[in-house]
Amino acid sequence: MCGIVGYIGGRQAQTILLNCLGRLEYRGYDSCGIAVAAEHTTVFKDAVRVKALAQTLPKLEGKTGIGHTRWATHGEPSMINAHPHCDCTGRIAVAHNGVINNSQKLKQQLVSEGHLFVSETDSEVIPHLIEKYYEDSLPKAVEAALHEIEGSYAIVVLMEGERELVVARKDSPLIIGIGDRENFIASDVPAILDYTSRVMYLEEGDVAVVTGDEVKVRGNGVEVAREEHKVPWTVKDAQRGGYEHFMLKEIHEQPKVVRDTLSEYISIAQPAADMTVVGGSGMEDILMLACGTSYHAALVGKYIIEQLVKIPVRVEIASEFSYSGRASARNKAIVISQSGETADVLKAIKQLKNEDCHVIAVTNVVGSTVSRIADQVVYTRAGPEISVAATKSFVAQLIALYWLTLPYSRVDIRQLDEMVLGLRQLPGKIQQVFDNEEAIKSLAAEFARFNNAFFVGRGINYPIALEGALKLKEISYIHAEGYSAGELKHGPFALLGPETPVVAVVARDNTYEAMLANIKEVKARKSPVLALVEDDDDEVSGLADWIIPVPGVDALFSPVVNVVVLQLLAYYTAKQRGCPIDFPRNLAKSVTVE
Ligand code: AGP
Repeated sequence: MCGIVGYIGGRQAQTILLNCLGRLEYRGYDSCGIAVAAEHTTVFKDAVRVKALAQTLPKLEGKTGIGHTRWATHGEPSMINAHPHCDCTGRIAVAHNGVINNSQKLKQQLVSEGHLFVSETDSEVIPHLIEKYYEDSLPKAVEAALHEIEGSYAIVVLMEGERELVVARKDSPLIIGIGDRENFIASDVPAILDYTSRVMYLEEGDVAVVTGDEVKVRGNGVEVAREEHKVPWTVKDAQRGGYEHFMLKEIHEQPKVVRDTLSEYISIAQPAADMTVVGGSGMEDILMLACGTSYHAALVGKYIIEQLVKIPVRVEIASEFSYSGRASARNKAIVISQSGETADVLKAIKQLKNEDCHVIAVTNVVGSTVSRIADQVVYTRAGPEISVAATKSFVAQLIALYWLTLPYSRVDIRQLDEMVLGLRQLPGKIQQVFDNEEAIKSLAAEFARFNNAFFVGRGINYPIALEGALKLKEISYIHAEGYSAGELKHGPFALLGPETPVVAVVARDNTYEAMLANIKEVKARKSPVLALVEDDDDEVSGLADWIIPVPGVDALFSPVVNVVVLQLLAYYTAKQRGCPIDFPRNLAKSVTVE
């Protein structure tokens, strides 16, 4: 959730650290700080965003430095609680992501030995432990300190007078960017794309010593080689490109994302190798696990697979899986995670693997932890998603699920061809949604005055109602709930009335008549209705207060166009309400704590 950066090389570290931190701010943005070391270690930090910190900083001399942008877990956002944290002498500075479970015990022990703590964070025990074990080698002291720590961590450590950074990771991501006689540390690839696209992914438990010229990695106490990879993303992919917000840019990238993801799959010589999970012979059921927006993609996947392949699919929220039981009968599971770093997903995968389950991951990030621990990986090609609110990654996940399922669908070849054609037409259909963007914007201006809303759908568009509500609440702070349209009358009706609009996602499929009846019921309770309907629909249009026409597509693909409408509705509503769209309060892009 927090972001870590580090630099060591021939250039002044300050500008590079601030630039990298700016690119990483989506991981957490309640406070930030940097430490630069030359003869002395200098730390600057505050409960402000990176830009504001940069404006207050003096020029710091030093070609070795670390930085951090925080999403608070232990202790409120404040200058004192911001990272980097130092030892008693102020010579050692540490930036940490993760949670130290035994921090209280360690802190008590360290305090009894004379260490002075200033923050409320769990992270502060790390520099003190390193100080305690330091004799003449920083790497040795770091390894000794890590032996004492229970929990998750990605850390970067510097010490004044030392021309090396020591980094380590366990259950929290960390990469090393390889430059020309300079090296970079980051918790996420977009942080370093301005400087290099060569990266080394650290494995669980690795400790590395990084200088300007080399990277030495130790795993399980012995020197190990970690491969260098070329990142498939460019700096441009991670920039706003003239859009006011990353979210709007990423919404607009969706036609390209669908094209790129499809052409990636079509170009794979033997796509079936990855797809046997869905319909392989003898397959009895499938388990799908994910969180948040990815969970909604999994729910759509359930409808796709059950409709086309006719085998039951169980979808579970990853954070609930450990309480709810076992893997599927045939021990195969599809796990979906945009970032590939979500802690609850990682925990669920570990449990699945303990049960000898074969795990197929759908992820957007090459080299992510999920991609490395799963048995098979299906990559989406959404490019880096910076906006906290997931948009293009969701659509890419849907395309992956269609593509995984189609070869096993129980339809004839003519219908299959039509479906493939339907998929290929989706970029054009999404473009047609953008043709209507001004109308959605005007409607959002009216919608923005409400404080509560329901989103309803049925069948394959029920998860789209859930996703529409999630998008609206996370960036506009309007309380929104997604429901299956049939469930509203089982309780939520008590809340309907003129001040509670209902957004109805209506598809031309076997849910249409029931949706029509539900809209009538809602109207009878005086709630205003905003309906998403196909271009030429008359019946719903006659009932709803507002209509957003969507281009006609096969109902199976309707989630793709409908979700784009709801993303735009959420975006323009949040904009109208003056919300910080790319940095919604209390949230961060990838949730690396349980
Ligand atoms: C949605 O807008 C959020 N970003 C969030 O729900 C997200 O989908 C969830 O945290 C799961 O993330 P993942 O796909 O990276 O695992």
